[in-house]
Amino acid sequence: RYLNSLAQDNGKLWFGTAADIPGTAEQTDKEYLRILENPKNFGEITPANMMKFMYTEPEQNVFNFTGGDYILDLAEKHGMRVRCHNLVWSSQLSDWVTSGTWTAATLTAVMKNHIQTLITHWGDRCYSWDVINEALAGDGTFSSSIWYDTIGPEYFPLAFQFAQEAVEQTGKDIKLYYNDYGLESPGNKTTAAYNLVRELQSRHIKIDGVGLESHFEVGGTPSIADQVAAKKGFLDLGIDVAITELDVRFVAAPYYTAAGEATQAQNYYDSVASCMEVGRGCIGVTVWDFDDKYSWVPSAFVGQGGADIYNDTLQRKPAYYAIAEAL
Ligand code: XIL
Repeated sequence: RYLNSLAQDNGKLWFGTAADIPGTAEQTDKEYLRILENPKNFGEITPANMMKFMYTEPEQNVFNFTGGDYILDLAEKHGMRVRCHNLVWSSQLSDWVTSGTWTAATLTAVMKNHIQTLITHWGDRCYSWDVINEALAGDGTFSSSIWYDTIGPEYFPLAFQFAQEAVEQTGKDIKLYYNDYGLESPGNKTTAAYNLVRELQSRHIKIDGVGLESHFEVGGTPSIADQVAAKKGFLDLGIDVAITELDVRFVAAPYYTAAGEATQAQNYYDSVASCMEVGRGCIGVTVWDFDDKYSWVPSAFVGQGGADIYNDTLQRKPAYYAIAEAL
């Protein structure tokens, strides 16, 4: 039972994964690549890093597409789609951006050039772009970022407007997404996200979907009902949703007890089941690294780990089989 095969047989565009290549150990790990490159396993890849600002525009108006090309080439070779990630975010920016002296006008020009150059360059090799990544704080107000702090709340519609212009120039169907965490259940942040979507729509600015990152802690995921309700709220606005960065981490070792893995499997099940329950509007599920061997979690959260559906020796965990059930 292969997860992408199951997903596609049951109405989803993909079951996918993030991959942090090239330039890392996994790039030459034969067993890792054997799993990654099997289209029965994955129908989509999201570059974990290589399309981010610091890699794609390391100096102002000097672009580097090599890392992104590597992922696109690999994905296309195996018939997989790519969710291109991301254009405007507070993190992983180039030093020239974070240490620059900007006015709203000059930083808006930087944002426009970055967005339009990447969209134009890769065209419809990207199924979609995460135009804005992680915009909101838990209370539903905008988070601090150089973009928000310098340009103000208009940075959000402006980014989508610039993206729309570039997409229209290509004449291709490239989907535009807002991607964030904390939108997986009803609450202040989710309501604020609905309002951001409505605001774009009222101005006739293109937004095709919202990415629900779904970085969870074992035993701490929202109920299926809450995950369904949050998704339906977006679908009611006439846009798609995708689960874009699913992982369920242990906040402390041990990571591989039978009881812990059973809870984790249920948590994965609930999230994927909510995507199935709302129908085709939840277009697909992407895990943020499929394996504990190369997971981003231990470096981002001290002492935490075991978050993925394959373990640190690339063996399938109970969570894998729970997802197969949900699909
Ligand atoms: C993470 C990558 O996986 C890490 O390799 C990197 O060091 C930091 O960023 N939300 C996102 C992703 O939208 O881009 C982040 O990816 C994880 C959290």
